[in-house]
Amino acid sequence: MSRAEETNQNRKVKVALVTGAAQGVGLGIAQVLARHGLAVVLADIQSDLANHEADALKAQGHMALGVALDVTSAESWRAAILQSEAAFGPVDALVNNAGISPRGTAETTSEELWETCLGINLKGSWLGIRELLPGFRQRRFGRIVNIGSTRSTRPLRGLFAYGVSKAGMLAMTQQVAVEYVNDGITSNMVAPGWVDTPGERLLQKRHGREDFPAGLKNLITPEDVGEATWYVVGPAADRVNGLVLYLDAGLAVADDAGMIYLPNAQHNRYEQRL
Ligand SMILES: NC(=O)c1ccc[n+]([C@@H]2O[C@H](COP(=O)([O-])OP(=O)(O)OC[C@H]3O[C@@H](n4cnc5c(N)ncnc54)[C@H](O)[C@@H]3O)[C@@H](O)[C@H]2O)c1
Repeated sequence: MSRAEETNQNRKVKVALVTGAAQGVGLGIAQVLARHGLAVVLADIQSDLANHEADALKAQGHMALGVALDVTSAESWRAAILQSEAAFGPVDALVNNAGISPRGTAETTSEELWETCLGINLKGSWLGIRELLPGFRQRRFGRIVNIGSTRSTRPLRGLFAYGVSKAGMLAMTQQVAVEYVNDGITSNMVAPGWVDTPGERLLQKRHGREDFPAGLKNLITPEDVGEATWYVVGPAADRVNGLVLYLDAGLAVADDAGMIYLPNAQHNRYEQRL
């Protein structure tokens, strides 16, 4: 057994920083990790909401802190990590969840939209990883979890920038896994299918599926994503590295709408309006 592995066995994840944790998937992840006994840092650009949700967790007896974070800014990352360290000590696990999913094809995506989407989803995740890696290497322990999507590997018309960003996150997940394989650090991706979240409801309202999530039979919950994240963060996954854990009730391998919609659902075709 290598020294890193021995060290790993003596270490536990105590502190997790979750980005985009004010609502939706990120909040579900933070709640589940808190229930598993971790101190959780809810980092979000919506800092008031992050603070509010952190207070709710504290009221239930958990260790939680809300911090302001714009993932696209290295300076903001440094400030958020300093705040976490002051409250709970070193961060052991980073969950890169903050993300947006704008609509547009290869032709209709503007440069601005490309930069915003890739900036938050991909560069934002890398900035956090880069900021935490020196500490992870020094302590010979760290867990990185990137929240991808079935769209990391299964393109869908009209999700150009999003699909590219999530495919990029997959490459980054595995690249980091390989680069730090001897440092006691793991890097994995959890790739959910459709999740009912405030962001997704807003998008679907804007893009034509107003009754979302009605009619969907394989809906994933934020708590499901939380439990999958706990698996790759927790002690059972000491040797799990570079994994893409699909959490999608089969969506990633589906080629027919029968996998996705209930027989009588109003929208029974697997397509996305722009
Ligand atoms: N909802 C789904 O169906 C679904 C499916 C697969 C993957 N995902 C992924 O899950 C993640 C969360 O999605 P969601 O549906 O919960 O979205 P959401 O819009 O409900 O929540 C996203 C959160 O990220 C925060 N955020 C946005 N920009 C930020 C920035 N620059 N810095 C810090 N925080 C920022 C928002 O304030 C918000 O709290 C995304 O990465 C998304 O791609 C969602």
